Amino acid sequence: MLNRPPAAPRHVAIIMDGNGRWAARRGLPRSAGHKAGVDALRRAVKAAADFGVEYLTIYSFSSENWSRPAAEVSFLLDLLRRFIRQDVAELHRSGVKITVVGSRADLEPGIVSLLDDAERMTRGNSKLNLIVAFNYGSRQEIGRAVAAIARKVESGDISAADISPELISLNLDTAGIPDPDLLIRTGGEQRISNFLLWQCAYTEFVFVDDFWPDFTHEIFARALDEFRLRDRRFGGIEAQTA
Ligand code: FPP
Repeated sequence: MLNRPPAAPRHVAIIMDGNGRWAARRGLPRSAGHKAGVDALRRAVKAAADFGVEYLTIYSFSSENWSRPAAEVSFLLDLLRRFIRQDVAELHRSGVKITVVGSRADLEPGIVSLLDDAERMTRGNSKLNLIVAFNYGSRQEIGRAVAAIARKVESGDISAADISPELISLNLDTAGIPDPDLLIRTGGEQRISNFLLWQCAYTEFVFVDDFWPDFTHEIFARALDEFRLRDRRFGGIEAQTA
């Protein structure tokens, strides 16, 4: 017997890939693709709420994205600033709680305070949890968690024997957030790109060929349909739900 997942995944993570190629196909600069990507993000947030998804995590800027040309990096940072300024009030009205994961060390103070304000303003909401991975890299996150645990061992608060998968999860930026049930990557590539490596141990992956700016309610619905057909065993043989 197949172990059918529940109707909607509780937590969906998305790698929003293909903005540059979407723009290139139209003879537009890459920045036009990122701008259209923000519209696609707005559609995805609305669709997630409609589908009853509880947690939506989006990869908005990776630790490795700093290696892009300076003009593109500054355009992406500007888009984030504008997204937070323009959309947070509306997201707040719709009951969206925003959490930002990733490193805030070395970010310019203006951006850090925007992120802090967005979290503070929306922290009482419960319709949908929107987790924005910004300046995020999973190996870096795991490295910070290991260092935090090592400091607790050094100070004698815990011993090495207390280190468990649960303790590691609790020291990640995503502490308290359930692991993703479904990860969607757009843009046709099939890799994880340093995103939620620890958290995706038993996540179902759906890869779609459409570029991120073309992402729609229908494409999201198809990914959820595919998720429903998956047989999730979590390493066992018995039916389990996340
Ligand atoms: C990948 O496309 C996308 C990114 C690196 C950035 C994702 C950002 C957005 C969707 C918009 C910004 C959202 C916020 C909240 C600021 P790519 O540039 O790697 O595309 P390519 O693979 O076709 O080159």
